[in-house]
Amino acid sequence: MDKPVPLTQRPQWQALAEHATAIAGTRLRDLFAADPARGQRLTAEGAGLYLDYSKQRVDEDTLRLLLELADACELSARTAAMFAGEHINRTEDRAVLHVALRMPKGERLEVDGVDVVAQVHEVLDRMAAFADRVRGGQWTGHSGRRIRNVISIGIGGSDLGPVMAYEALRDFSNRDMHFGFVSNVDGTDFSEAVRGLDPAETLFIVCSKTFTTLETLANAHAARTWCLDGLGGDASAVAKHFVAVSTNADGVRDFGIDTDNMFGFWDWVGGRYSMDSAIGLSTMIAIGPENFRDMLAGFHEMDEHFRDTPFERNLPVLMALVAIWNNDFLGADTVAVLPYAQYLKRFPAYLQQLTMESNGKSVTLDGRRVDYQTGPVYWGEPGTNGQHSFYQLIHQGTRLVPCDFIGFCEPLSPLREQHDLLMANLFAQGEALAFGKAADEVRAEGVADALVPHKTFEGNRPSSTILAQKLTPHALGALVALYEHSVFVQGVVWDIDSFDQWGVELGKVLAKQTASELAAARLPELRHDSSTNALIRRYREQRGT
Ligand code: F6P
Repeated sequence: MDKPVPLTQRPQWQALAEHATAIAGTRLRDLFAADPARGQRLTAEGAGLYLDYSKQRVDEDTLRLLLELADACELSARTAAMFAGEHINRTEDRAVLHVALRMPKGERLEVDGVDVVAQVHEVLDRMAAFADRVRGGQWTGHSGRRIRNVISIGIGGSDLGPVMAYEALRDFSNRDMHFGFVSNVDGTDFSEAVRGLDPAETLFIVCSKTFTTLETLANAHAARTWCLDGLGGDASAVAKHFVAVSTNADGVRDFGIDTDNMFGFWDWVGGRYSMDSAIGLSTMIAIGPENFRDMLAGFHEMDEHFRDTPFERNLPVLMALVAIWNNDFLGADTVAVLPYAQYLKRFPAYLQQLTMESNGKSVTLDGRRVDYQTGPVYWGEPGTNGQHSFYQLIHQGTRLVPCDFIGFCEPLSPLREQHDLLMANLFAQGEALAFGKAADEVRAEGVADALVPHKTFEGNRPSSTILAQKLTPHALGALVALYEHSVFVQGVVWDIDSFDQWGVELGKVLAKQTASELAAARLPELRHDSSTNALIRRYREQRGT
């Protein structure tokens, strides 16, 4: 196979670099003034989502050049390869098939001779039967009591998706049940999650793709002890109070969970792409199987939109190309994700793993060091809270912070007027960022000269707005799939492996070694650097007994 041309040597990349210099002086005000229809034209729709990218610093040439870059990077072929189950996760030699998790029953997708869609539906059906029994009170605890509390234990992709989805879809959840999530190895996370709960009414879902993750196993052991202590020590109680979600049946068995109570998935599902696999069992118990299927339908609709829509109308492609433009040609280091929906309060945290574990890479697929920026830092908070906190920097700071605003037309609360206020704020922020307030406008208001620079808003700060009808399971699925595919497209252009995460390994190895040094009765000879050695000594001296 021919080696790909290094990205920055591609004519399309160089043309974009020249174009960025050429339009550096063009402002959003000018772009809107020159084209009265811009606000309708630079939009796209798919899977129930409306994307307005007209407030991005792009013109017709920018978009054309970005689309040419996507073609040059063979985006169509790479997308087809993902959907076909090719091993596009090269460093782990794995297929990347989260799209199979939401394919409708009856569709076929063969990987290495096996129809994975049939496997997916077999697990979904088992999950649904189990969720119905828990929700309906037929699945009882060891002492015959109904399950009222579900605690999901996991970390990273085995936690962030379930927590985010539970919070996002609370309005659809069973309000007679309590749902909790434990991820941190900090014991306070577990203690607080079970405080006041009755073990006889509590079900733990231990979620771990590998079933080797230190944090999850430590918390699962703590849960086992808490549960058995509370139920009189009979080990057979585990079968009624613990289920596992994993790809590692041996690990589940070794922990003491009957594999009859295990829900599986496959190595072609990346942890951060797994919230719609069995990892979403807590979500399904919370919102019910029907709503869960609705969420899968939303994912699938966006998958089809992404696979079948020409790039110039394709939401994930447009979002990704704009992100590349901001990151590599306008020098923006971060992206602020600003949902105007309190239920999406964990969405930015979820996206942090999705985007940064995927595209936080500095070598290309064939191992060459990149000479351009890859994944930006994602961060954010729900509006309007952020407005009273960090938006000052976005409006008047020295850095360029592109924003993704996310909003819903129909409220989920009966307080409709407050919803209008919420959305008025969303629209106002995008407008203020783009158009600002010029010094002469400030002066015309009678502001004293000395204060004019302080009260001037430069504007020209880019944002996109994503609107959906209502925050339903379907809309959430479409929204997550939008970001998943946008991450994929960015990774294709940057020529990196968006599906591995070797960068988390070194810390894990060092922590294991350090844990044994902290646990040893007598301080062993420390062979770290002088800083780490001193920190370990100080900790041992001060930790108490
Ligand atoms: O350490 C990072 C990571 O491997 C993530 O990619 C993953 O989502 C998380 O840990 C949890 O892994 P597991 O599901 O195997 O416990």
